[in-house]
Amino acid sequence: TISSDKIVTAIAHTNIALIKYWGKRNAEFIIPYTGSLSLTLDQFYTQTSVQFDASLDQDSVSIDDQLIDGNGWQRVHDFLNIVRQQSDITLNARVKSENHVPTAAGLASSASAFAALAAAASRAAGMDLDLQALSRLARRGSGSACRSIFGGFVEWQRGTNDSDSYAVPIETPNLNDIRIVALTVEKHHKPISSRQGMALSVTTSPYYPTWVKVVESDLQSIKTAINADDFTRFGTISELNAMRMHALTLSANPDFLYFTGDTLEAMNEVKRLRHSGIECYYTIDAGPNVKVICQKQNAAAITDTFSKMFGPEKVTVAQPGPGVKYL
Ligand code: PMV
Repeated sequence: TISSDKIVTAIAHTNIALIKYWGKRNAEFIIPYTGSLSLTLDQFYTQTSVQFDASLDQDSVSIDDQLIDGNGWQRVHDFLNIVRQQSDITLNARVKSENHVPTAAGLASSASAFAALAAAASRAAGMDLDLQALSRLARRGSGSACRSIFGGFVEWQRGTNDSDSYAVPIETPNLNDIRIVALTVEKHHKPISSRQGMALSVTTSPYYPTWVKVVESDLQSIKTAINADDFTRFGTISELNAMRMHALTLSANPDFLYFTGDTLEAMNEVKRLRHSGIECYYTIDAGPNVKVICQKQNAAAITDTFSKMFGPEKVTVAQPGPGVKYL
């Protein structure tokens, strides 16, 4: 048995996928159809503390000092059940999570949330998992969370089952002047969750089998670009891959779309900037917000342009961030 007063706190940063994960081969274990590749960001993170406590009669979960119930609670509870199963404990847990993101739904927080929860909960339950095992555990909460265990560029190797599907860091000094200018054009809740969106794309888009093939070559291209320190190739393939993913929403039945008018305006502005000699590219996840990929020397000009367009409070510049840490 473990003592009920050990509180473990972990911090994990969010990540932005440059080659997207979109579709599960196995929904229970969250095994993807393809690999993916991301950059962990320094500006957005989740801090979570976990304590297993014999005095609790159910799991207690608070996010930003608000106790939660319903679907959010259920997802954390299900995840804690995996931790309890692995560590052979039966106690309920107290989970306190704080999100450090500029605005509510600006950046996918499920990645940093489940990475921090995996780290804090496993250690609070008495386990001492290595980073690979932590990545596998985080994956069970949210696929993209397996990448937030590591800092910098990270590849999620798709694998085929629970034991071989995990993320690995890409250790490189290359492209370290990369910046992500995050545009939080809207903070509304997304109409279709990534989970629902993926399932619709996999089962109804006639292009899904082509996506699976094309991601293999997109992954090769981006790794070649990183190895060659080739920003132009890196940005070009990132933008293409994002649009290929969104084509899977337009081609689903029923079709759906994560973009809003502001998303399109931001995309057009990125292209205008690029044609005027300020090199930048866009990528977009399962929501309307746009992330502009650029290099340090252009970050100020790009920030300036979008601050005028959307307001300075909507613009945040991020750089490569660290992997999971314990406090
Ligand atoms: O990890 P999830 O279930 O939130 O899915 C993430 C999906 C995308 O953000 C659109 C792509 C990715 O690889 O992060």
